[in-house]
Amino acid sequence: MTTTATVSFGSDNHAGIHPAVLEAIGAANTGHVAAYGDDPWTQRLEQRFRELLGDVAAFPVFNGTGANVTGLSALLRPHQAVICAETAHVNTDECGAPERFTGAKLIDVATTDGKLTPALVERRLVGIGDEHRVQPRAVSITQATELGTVYSLQELAGLASFCHANGLLLHVDGARIANAAASLPRGRETTSGRSRSRTTRRQTHR
Ligand SMILES: Cc1ncc(COP(=O)(O)O)c(C=O)c1O
Repeated sequence: MTTTATVSFGSDNHAGIHPAVLEAIGAANTGHVAAYGDDPWTQRLEQRFRELLGDVAAFPVFNGTGANVTGLSALLRPHQAVICAETAHVNTDECGAPERFTGAKLIDVATTDGKLTPALVERRLVGIGDEHRVQPRAVSITQATELGTVYSLQELAGLASFCHANGLLLHVDGARIANAAASLPRGRETTSGRSRSRTTRRQTHR
């Protein structure tokens, strides 16, 4: 990995691969095993996710947009919507893929710092049960956010509780989850899993 004086948080794809990851890929690249989830590495990944996040299933995908689209599709029916920050990657930088492939509307919310709060989400819970209105079903957040801010454990727990009390699922885009884990006092436990969000992505990415 080339080390430069500049560290870019613009995208996790701006960074080189971590040497330990590269070494692990090299070590895995031997012999033959059954693929498509039956291989020991995928099984180890699933086990590791369970250790970190409890009773969850892991579905590895190739990139972040694919993870967001796959994750949100699993949560939504076509008449349902996703509430997200105006600045969220799903809203600004995925070429409309989440709306195209989930068939669901994104309801984007202006924020001061890239973070959603229960109050901001609540304002968008209008027309519930009205057959003419799209029905919010998921709230999507990014941890750490596109503006470089990080949800605290209390903020995550508060948002998750609000969502679950209102029949909403909480989706976490974890493109920068390693940065959030490094910056929060209790590390990875505070970043998403123990706050009972339903989907996360790339928990162990770089
Ligand atoms: C917050 C966030 N989500 C999703 C993505 C999409 O990842 P990919 O470019 O691998 O599709 C990125 C990429 O920078 C990102 O920063």
